[in-house]
Amino acid sequence: MASIAEESLKRILVTGAGGQIGSWLVPRLRELYGTSNVLATDVRQLGAEATEGGPFQVLDATQTRSVGQVVMRHEADTVFHLAAILSAVGERDPRLAWHVNMASLEAVLEVAREQGCAVFTPSSIGVFGPGTPKDPTPQDTVMRPGTMYGITKVAGELLCDYYHARHGVDTRGVRFPGLVSYGAPPGGGTTDWAVDIFHHAAASARYTCFLGPDTQLDMMYMPDAVRAIIALMEADPARLWHRNAFNVTAMQLTPEHLAAEIRRHLPDFRVTYDIDPVRQSIADSWPDRIDDSAARAEWGWCPEFDIEAMTADMLKHVGLATASSG
Ligand SMILES: NC(=O)c1ccc[n+]([C@@H]2O[C@H](COP(=O)([O-])OP(=O)(O)OC[C@H]3O[C@@H](n4cnc5c(N)ncnc54)[C@H](O)[C@@H]3O)[C@@H](O)[C@H]2O)c1
Repeated sequence: MASIAEESLKRILVTGAGGQIGSWLVPRLRELYGTSNVLATDVRQLGAEATEGGPFQVLDATQTRSVGQVVMRHEADTVFHLAAILSAVGERDPRLAWHVNMASLEAVLEVAREQGCAVFTPSSIGVFGPGTPKDPTPQDTVMRPGTMYGITKVAGELLCDYYHARHGVDTRGVRFPGLVSYGAPPGGGTTDWAVDIFHHAAASARYTCFLGPDTQLDMMYMPDAVRAIIALMEADPARLWHRNAFNVTAMQLTPEHLAAEIRRHLPDFRVTYDIDPVRQSIADSWPDRIDDSAARAEWGWCPEFDIEAMTADMLKHVGLATASSG
């Protein structure tokens, strides 16, 4: 992105900033909008690598009063709300997933209504369920998920729609597929295998995958996810018909397909399978391929990384990290 208009986002609060997305998004937001304008927060104290790059504060996003105080003190006009419990952890502790995902979103939206903030909240392909058409999965379709995570994401999309329609809050969001990145590890999702596989390939040339070899899911490399978030938040609101729930994807992967691509770089790499029935059944209920034409038409979404480019870049970074850590 060439430049950010003077009048656009200036004072930003990020919740859940220490997670997989936040650890990439915060540095990019600071590059674009200025270090001191971007306040990173998380429920846990983060390590020096996350806190030394700019302002950081511990914040439990489920606490409306605390969120309100931090937004007011920072004079935030935009909240990137990333705090959440992900799918696999959510199936282990569904009450925690419901509480964190719903209470934090309700707190952020209520504070945004009171203080006039825009809000970005990621939804997920987890909104879809076994009754949804799988290939392609349309933008507007059946959403009856079988996981607590998916239920909170459907409810979250509806809550964002409500705060926009009823209270005029500038809410925006995308349904992310599985996200692949190096750096902060994934937080307990069904697509974590697509990150783990690179670390194991670089470290030992062996990986035991918890999903079956032919399980196809949508995926995206994190640099594209960060570009998607910023592009959507910079988009002309008049064009956003699906503002809280854009399907976005970059590629479709199976474990066998990704393993074959990794073998082009590391010919000795081998994958075996030890299927986790819980995560396999979640993956089986999700789409094989989502249709992201609404995002392309309404705000110009277009991914830069395909499987070849992503694999080469991941192996470069993960390989170097493994070598330098001994
Ligand atoms: N990573 C993916 O593949 C993916 C895919 C689709 C959607 N998403 C969505 O994107 C968002 C961010 O995901 P992520 O992968 O960065 O998750 P993550 O699990 O890596 O990070 C979540 C962060 O939230 C923090 N957190 C938990 N409870 C909190 C609370 N009460 N208050 C403040 N912070 C709290 C955690 O400490 C963690 O740092 C979530 O809404 C998730 O559902 C992620």
